[in-house]
Amino acid sequence: MSGDRGDGFVGVFGAPPQALADAPGRVNLLGEHTDYNDGFVLPIAIAQRTRVAMRVNGRPDCALHAQGQGATVRFTLDAAPSEHFASYVYGCLMLARGRGVDVPGLDIHVESDVPMGVGLSSSAALEVATLRCLRELLRLPFDDVLIAQLAQRAEIEYAGVNCGIMDQMASSLADTTRALLLDTRGLERRFVELPPGTGVLVIDSGVARTLAGSGYNERRAQCEEAARLLGVPSLRDVEDAARLAPLPALLQRRARHVVTENARVLQAVACTSPAAFGALMNASHASLRDDYEVSTPELDQLVALLQQQPEVHGARLTGAGFGGACVALCEQSGIAPAGRRVVAQYNAGGRHGRVLVPPLPG
Ligand code: GLA
Repeated sequence: MSGDRGDGFVGVFGAPPQALADAPGRVNLLGEHTDYNDGFVLPIAIAQRTRVAMRVNGRPDCALHAQGQGATVRFTLDAAPSEHFASYVYGCLMLARGRGVDVPGLDIHVESDVPMGVGLSSSAALEVATLRCLRELLRLPFDDVLIAQLAQRAEIEYAGVNCGIMDQMASSLADTTRALLLDTRGLERRFVELPPGTGVLVIDSGVARTLAGSGYNERRAQCEEAARLLGVPSLRDVEDAARLAPLPALLQRRARHVVTENARVLQAVACTSPAAFGALMNASHASLRDDYEVSTPELDQLVALLQQQPEVHGARLTGAGFGGACVALCEQSGIAPAGRRVVAQYNAGGRHGRVLVPPLPG
């Protein structure tokens, strides 16, 4: 509980908070668009976190202040606030109420250094931090998996993205030093070391994810249709891409990405060679670009530049795609120089790339 966190709350509400909690963003190393197909994912938490502070205010309504978002938003649980960021917090409170929690009027302060809108799960960090803070404030018997499940429902039911559970599980359970191998069907999980001597570099393409919502929900519907035509509960149940042959061409490509991506995650966690792990990341990007069609020219260019660096073992877009950031597995000692070089080359074409992970000091 840093002084800063309490200070932000005191500055807005004039009294110290009664509970503080935080949660990290995440970057996904492999296993993209597999979670809503009951498949495998391999995220790792990032250093940037969202911090939430709360106090029971003795009134019937909630007052929510997010640093950098201007005015304080006021709402009661009877009507969803119109501000988009507030709907995540509102959704979490509503879902807690749905589990029988008597949610009082609250003053809530949010601050975050998780980059927003780039595929690093700023929304999951906000949801998980909100639920953690409510757990602390009201002494709720919610475990970390339940928090992730409620956070996912907040995103689906109150923010309108029909997402899987990767981001919320990562924010609730991952750490920053090892990747989290998660089977999204039964939520079995274990930590996996990165290949020896390597670390993670994330660069933002500077291109907003404009089509993310609609394109994401469309991809999910296509996967469900493919599974239905194949007569399986989900694409997780297909291991051999040859079984996809009866599908119409578009659905076949979508499903092939999912089937091959699940295989790549399982191969990656079994390999100790950085080069082999990196090659799987490169193959993932090609599959996301060609079969799943969620890349953009800017992401392709950034990935190509990353892949050309001698310190980089492999690179791919990360998160839902349609813009946002790319992740690379890099020689630990080469992360900073490779990041600087790639950003300089990419921005020479008039773009606005920037290194997001590791975060700049300060
Ligand atoms: C978003 C969703 C996740 C996952 C990824 C793509 O981050 O929130 O559930 O589907 O896209 O892998």
